[in-house]
Amino acid sequence: MEDRVITSNIIEEDIEVEYSLRPQRLKEYIGQEKVKNKLDIFLKAAKMRKEPLDHLLLYGPPGLGKTTLANIVAKEMGGNLKITSGPAIERAGDLAALLTNLNTNDVLFIDEIHRLNRSVEEILYPAMEDFALDIVIGKGASAKSIRLDLPKFTLIGATTRVGLLTAPLRDRFGVLCSMEYYNDDELKEIVLRSSEILGVEIDKEGAFSLGMRSRGTPRIANRLLKRVRDYSMVKGINVIDSNMVEQAAELLEVDREGFDRLDNKILEAIVDNFNGGPVGVETLAYFIGEEVSTIEDVYEPYLIQKGFIVRTPRGRMAAKKAYEHLGRIIPDHIL
Ligand SMILES: Nc1ncnc2c1ncn2[C@@H]1O[C@H](COP(=O)(O)OP(=O)(O)OP(=O)(O)O)[C@@H](O)[C@H]1O
Ligand SMILES: [Mg+2]
Repeated sequence: MEDRVITSNIIEEDIEVEYSLRPQRLKEYIGQEKVKNKLDIFLKAAKMRKEPLDHLLLYGPPGLGKTTLANIVAKEMGGNLKITSGPAIERAGDLAALLTNLNTNDVLFIDEIHRLNRSVEEILYPAMEDFALDIVIGKGASAKSIRLDLPKFTLIGATTRVGLLTAPLRDRFGVLCSMEYYNDDELKEIVLRSSEILGVEIDKEGAFSLGMRSRGTPRIANRLLKRVRDYSMVKGINVIDSNMVEQAAELLEVDREGFDRLDNKILEAIVDNFNGGPVGVETLAYFIGEEVSTIEDVYEPYLIQKGFIVRTPRGRMAAKKAYEHLGRIIPDHIL
């Protein structure tokens, strides 16, 4: 599972190019129109008021450009970006140290913010609300609380699991943005932009065909682009077209929906072995030899989002699209 070419999590081979492929300004950032429009207005207002941007919460699946956006916000505001993550901040003191090192207009980016522990989170409340740090000095009856002023900074929290955020934390963000999967045209644009930066020649149809297989995720599009580049280099092809993309994708076992072998195995299991479902996720996991959590967290979300699987109280069911994709006859009861 770790070597899945279409995982949306960052893997070793992404690291060297992700940095150079990251859009630096909002106008370079392709897609996510809703998020971009919102941010554009808030950024303009903040600049006019000469105040930092309201704290911002970005939520959505991995690889859709949350870190990239944080980077853009810091650039637009003329501040520095400090990156950390929920699990990396173990004690309240760690967060206090981060906060006191910020300057006005800096952006503190906390990835996986739903994983902050409670005592750390409590430090964050006054920091977000009043730009203040409350620290307790001494112990027992002689303990005193003093309040330190912090510079006016912007907190950007990112999470893939917004439902796990506590209400008091969520309520302290002024701007909430839901990150959506990119559509095929946006992905095509991202592929064309990346190919220019990487010096790879690909035509529009090729870029579209590659984007289509990228599961709505720029990170996957960029990774597939590199793989297809390598493939066409070996084949001695200069300009990548859709035929080249199809050949390379076949080799990588990524089909036209961006599904790999396991995605298809899940669909086949539900359709062929469980009569289209409903089948419980435990049964399904046992049948294909994967962990329940792997199915729920890694495979299923995209299959559900694309409408191939439906989640019902009695288990998972295959939708019409699943039958079509597998080339099976669609039973009457499926709409
Ligand atoms: N809107 C976009 N336009 C062009 N490229 C993008 C866009 N969004 C993301 N990318 C590309 O995708 C890569 C991954 O984006 P990023 O690291 O920001 O994702 P993320 O949401 O922070 O992922 P994670 O949840 O794993 O932290 C970046 O290197 C960037 O090149
Ligand atoms: Mg990130």
